Amino acid sequence: MRTIIITALLGMGIISGCSSNDAVSTSYNDGEIPLPSDYKSWPVFVSGIEKSSGHIRDIYINNAGAETVAGKAFANGTKFVMEIYNAEKNGDGGIVKAALAKVFVMSKDQGNGQSATIKTGDWAYSAFDASGNALSVDYESCRGCHVPLVDTDYIFHYSKYFDTQAGSDY
Ligand code: HEC
Repeated sequence: MRTIIITALLGMGIISGCSSNDAVSTSYNDGEIPLPSDYKSWPVFVSGIEKSSGHIRDIYINNAGAETVAGKAFANGTKFVMEIYNAEKNGDGGIVKAALAKVFVMSKDQGNGQSATIKTGDWAYSAFDASGNALSVDYESCRGCHVPLVDTDYIFHYSKYFDTQAGSDY
């Protein structure tokens, strides 16, 4: 009976038609995560991060991740999308966003990143150019920077995001 119902739902496109913002369980190795097409409608995690390298970064989190309670690890199904913009100097000595340069993605699910050497929990990584084409990068270098962050589930701005919420242990 259950098989019949699932087949019927698949046939109606209810299961296969999920948007990338739903917590669908799929495991990925690095470079395999598709770029979520709808991430600009996701909750903002942290935005306007100015880098001394002359870039500005905006980070989005999907709904599954945004439901995370302060002090806890992110749920399976969490995805982050980080836009990396080139930046130009403005007249006041500050910088303003110019063209989008790259888009980095992290996705958490049981079994993600299994083929990686440096382990960062159940996270996998993907990198794209501004048009959404996959970039050829050394994913172990992503892991090398994120791996020390074991206390914040390998995510850099955990504290900044949850600062306003009481009870965070991180
Ligand atoms: C040199 C260290 C470094 C490397 C290498 C690196 N990251 Fe990060 N990553 C950061 C920092 C720092 C942040 C937080 C944003 C900021 O302040 O720039 C970050 C943030 C992120 C985020 C947003 C979630 C979070 O932790 O805040 C994603 C997604 C991400 N990185 C993916 C990647 C991917 C994919 C690669 C490899 C292609 C990569 N990173 C390589 C340092 C690094």
